[in-house]
Order: sequence, then C-alpha cells, then structure tokens
Amino acid sequence: MTGADTSWGIIGIGQLGASLVEGLYQSETPFSICLSPRGESQVRTLAARFPIVVATDNQSVVDSVDHVILAVRPDQVADVANALKFRSGQVIVSVAAGVKHTSLQTVVEPAIAVRAMPVLSAAIADSPTTVYPANAAAVGLFEHLGPVHAFDDEDAFSAAVVAATYYVWVYALMDTCAGWLENNGVATETSRSLIAQMTRAACNQSLDSGFDMGAMAEAIARPGTFTGIGLDLLRERGALQAWSDACQGVLGACRKRER
Ligand SMILES: NC(=O)c1ccc[n+]([C@@H]2O[C@H](COP(=O)([O-])OP(=O)(O)OC[C@H]3O[C@@H](n4cnc5c(N)ncnc54)[C@H](OP(=O)(O)O)[C@@H]3O)[C@@H](O)[C@H]2O)c1
Repeated sequence: MTGADTSWGIIGIGQLGASLVEGLYQSETPFSICLSPRGESQVRTLAARFPIVVATDNQSVVDSVDHVILAVRPDQVADVANALKFRSGQVIVSVAAGVKHTSLQTVVEPAIAVRAMPVLSAAIADSPTTVYPANAAAVGLFEHLGPVHAFDDEDAFSAAVVAATYYVWVYALMDTCAGWLENNGVATETSRSLIAQMTRAACNQSLDSGFDMGAMAEAIARPGTFTGIGLDLLRERGALQAWSDACQGVLGACRKRER
C-alpha cells in the first residue's frame, strides 16, 4: 500500500462519500482528508468524529490536496468538474457508473482521470473495488478500504461494475430466506444471523478453495439430497438464470446511459 503524506479530497459527501470517509479512518489511513462543504449536516457529523479538513468550496478542495475523488451523482459529474481547475499530475477518481473514461478525462484536464467502483461496505473497510485504468495513487487509496481489482480494458471494467449491484441484491436474497425462516417459527434474530452467517461461510469457503463455485454447489447438492432438491427447484423456476439476466439488464442500462 502507498499513501503516507498523500492528501485526498472528496467532493460529494452523500451516501458513498461518507462511507469512504468512515472506512478510511477505520483502517487508520495515512492520508489526510479534505471534504467539500455541501451536505452541511453530514459533513459536520463526520468532522466531529474524524480529523478532517472541511474546505470552503470545491475549488479549495482541489487546490489543497494531491488527489480528488468525485462522489457526486453521474449526471452531476460533468458540471461539477467543468467548474473546477485541476492541476497536472493530480489524479481525479470518479465513482460514477456510466461516465466513460474519455468523457471524464476531457473535463478534468490536465489532471489524470480514473474510474473506480467501491461499494458501501467501504464504511467497514471491506469494499471490493474495481479501478480503471490501473493507477498507483487510486489503487493505493482503495487498498485501505478492501481488495482492489485494477483493469486495463474499460469494457471489462464496465461489466465488473455490475458486481457492485450484485452486492446489494444479496441483501434482498438474504432477506427472503431469513423471512421464510421467521414464517416457519425461527426467532427473528436467529433467522437473520443464521442467514448472514451461512452467507459468510459460503463466501469464506469459496475464497479459500479456488473459486470454482459451480463445482462446490454440485459436489454438495448431489442428486437425491435435500440440498439437491432445493437447487433443482431453483433451476426449474429459472431463479438462477434470473440473476444472470439481471446482470445483463444492468449492463445494458449502463451502456444506454453512458456518456
Ligand atoms: N450509493 C452507493 O451505493 C454507490 C456505490 C458505488 C458508486 N456510487 C456512485 O457514487 C456517487 C454518489 O452516490 P451517492 O449514493 O453517494 O449519492 P448521494 O447520496 O446523492 O450523494 C451525492 C452527493 O453529492 C453532493 N453534490 C451534488 N452536487 C455537488 C456539488 N456541486 N458540489 C459538492 N457536492 C455536490 C450532493 O449534495 P446534495 O444532496 O446537496 O445535492 C450529495 O451529498 C454516484 O455517482 C454513484 O453512482 C454510489
């Protein structure tokens, strides 16, 4: 990891911007952090908890730091960046889906544009983050928030961005299964923790044993077993194919809106 003596500014302190701040301080980041002032109450709360500098405006953020994260909504990126003067050598990371690298580079000249896709678990310093293109400063920052996957191909990066939406769908899946347990007499707290722990166990085991998730499922859900009966039913109902369709739907929507 790199970063000692590096300063980062964050412009856009909403849901994601706040989670980045939270996680960076939790992981005892060596960076100094400067925030844009908009979203006063959220910024004030963060400033009360962490040793953050709050700038007077967005240009002061850019002027006072080495590198900047733009964490505004996709349709705000161009307007926000166009209003600012960046420096040569500065790295400007956009976390917006659907804003292409060429568009971003145009509005941050003469700085270096980078795209990244963290998720809200950045708040607990456990966000897998995709980065395009590989950039040492950006990778060094996100390594403080979890594992980083750097891409040298923007199409592959855009497909990988879909994984950030999958991360949220997993909550809905867990809620469905926990809800079923509750409806069948298992106490709410037990249902919720059991399903979260089962999900974590599957994740840990797959991270531990080489990622052949399909083979792991087949090896356990053998024909005639109770697990197999459930997996067959999911297949018959198209439940697994629906996840693949949802990934394709998100990628299609992103491509349609890409600018
Ligand atoms: N939320 C996620 O799970 C997630 C995950 C990965 C990536 N992202 C990306 O992260 C970005 C932010 O998403 P979000 O969910 O955090 O949205 P959000 O909660 O709406 O936050 C956006 C923030 O940007 C502020 N903002 C707007 N214009 C600004 C300006 N000119 N100067 C300074 N701040 C300004 C907004 O302030 P106002 O409220 O006053 O307008 C708001 O606080 C988006 O591009 C999104 O695609 C989000």
